[in-house]
Amino acid sequence: MSSSPHTESPRDDFFYDAYNRDDIAYGLDPSASLAAYLSQIMPAENTAKGNLRAIDLGAGAGRDTLALAGAGFDVESVDLSERGLSRIAERARQRGIAERVTTRLADVRKIEFPAAHYDAVIATTVLDHIPAADAESVWQRMCDSLTSNGVLYVHVHTTEDPGSGVPPGNTSSAPVSETAGAVVNYFRPNQLAAMAIDPKANLRILRYEERLEWDYTHGPEHQHGKAILLAVRAGYHPAWYGHPAAFPRES
Ligand SMILES: C[S@@+](CC[C@H](N)C(=O)[O-])C[C@H]1O[C@@H](n2cnc3c(N)ncnc32)[C@H](O)[C@@H]1O
Repeated sequence: MSSSPHTESPRDDFFYDAYNRDDIAYGLDPSASLAAYLSQIMPAENTAKGNLRAIDLGAGAGRDTLALAGAGFDVESVDLSERGLSRIAERARQRGIAERVTTRLADVRKIEFPAAHYDAVIATTVLDHIPAADAESVWQRMCDSLTSNGVLYVHVHTTEDPGSGVPPGNTSSAPVSETAGAVVNYFRPNQLAAMAIDPKANLRILRYEERLEWDYTHGPEHQHGKAILLAVRAGYHPAWYGHPAAFPRES
């Protein structure tokens, strides 16, 4: 495992307290839709052959990174939170998978995305933490960095979120997340889907959903509006999708 030089202090790190405490924010389990995807491709020929590369953008304290590394991916975890990255390193060591995790203290807007490089590109609530114009540019580079059989998993807050000051749908009086202050770009209805079907993205949607959900993984319980996308490259039709989660084999 390697780590970038430290430049941040707790004062500059919005997520420092969330990642520093024992009951670490976002918990130990990967985000639910990513876990479902990983359970579908394991132990398919995909993960068994090794040399799979993933990038976890806005990796936080690493719940998705750790699940990917546990499934056999070599993972680059990119985040602006030095404390989050140090928790990822610590948790990867504890699980004996440190050699598959590389932490990078960096802004997702400034990193290079090598073309056709990653077998999995993960962005669990980070495109909504940067301004819309930046999100569009990072999105395009994310898409371009997928291999021909790569998978893209994106999760964003929507205007339905109780923390959103932007309509439509933001009329809920449910409690707001302790970290809502970091969300600057709430996605409109269908916005993420529209990005995914834009020919420039060169994607095929496997699963897309917009929903309200309760979050018990950090701070007082609260509600979120979320859009969740699982997509592959256009033209890729993986034999594993839908098996065994939706239609389990009987033998
Ligand atoms: C809501 S947290 C999600 C963490 C993690 N993906 C998860 O689901 O557990 C958002 C994360 O994005 C990171 N982040 C926000 N803006 C970023 C940027 N421009 N570059 C890199 N990371 C960023 C934050 O530091 C934070 O750790």
